[in-house]
Amino acid sequence: MEMLSKPSGNIAIFASGTGSNALKIIEFFKEEASVNIVLIASNKPSASVLNYGEEFDIETLVFDREYFYKSEKIVEKLQAFEVDMIVLAGFLWLVPGYLVQQFPGRIINIHPALLPKYGGKGMYGMNVHRAVKAANEPTSGITIHYVNEKYDEGSIIFQADCALNSSDTPEMIAKKVLKLEHYYFPRVIKSLLSQKPEGDG
Ligand code: GAR
Repeated sequence: MEMLSKPSGNIAIFASGTGSNALKIIEFFKEEASVNIVLIASNKPSASVLNYGEEFDIETLVFDREYFYKSEKIVEKLQAFEVDMIVLAGFLWLVPGYLVQQFPGRIINIHPALLPKYGGKGMYGMNVHRAVKAANEPTSGITIHYVNEKYDEGSIIFQADCALNSSDTPEMIAKKVLKLEHYYFPRVIKSLLSQKPEGDG
């Protein structure tokens, strides 16, 4: 039987883009005193997600390839913030092995399609929705999954789908999918942070 307790933990959000999911997560957890977004990290200095750092008084970190792939400094940073879970919300770089190993089962990603279809390198953002449209799929949706060392291949935690019409453009598909992301991502994170680790209590 799954043990549920009050959600608690410190979250680091990794994002490369506008951060609409990051915003939903920040807003959702404002109501939960024991869940804190402690860091917003990005590989892109111009990513507008970083503005939420100032707006919500959250620390930000911008890193380059050297820092992320050639050093392991980010581990110290995450430990200093006592990060329990890393949430990838539109983060486009592959997560290096050392980081996956430091946070086993504690890095999750959201993907804007029903994996295992439409995943892998290069499959992000509108590329995904264009591919779904080109294949004339009757449905699309979201996948929230654990992160391993390969793009979009970690085990699946949650999926939700939406019906598509043949007249839907890729932009319309993106809108439907984003709506699912905004609703479910914070709630799935909450449920993961509510599961007591084995042997605890
Ligand atoms: C989201 O749709 C997310 O699923 C996708 O990037 C978007 C980021 O939007 N992620 C990927 O494609 C990862 N392969 P946001 O910046 O507005 O949250």
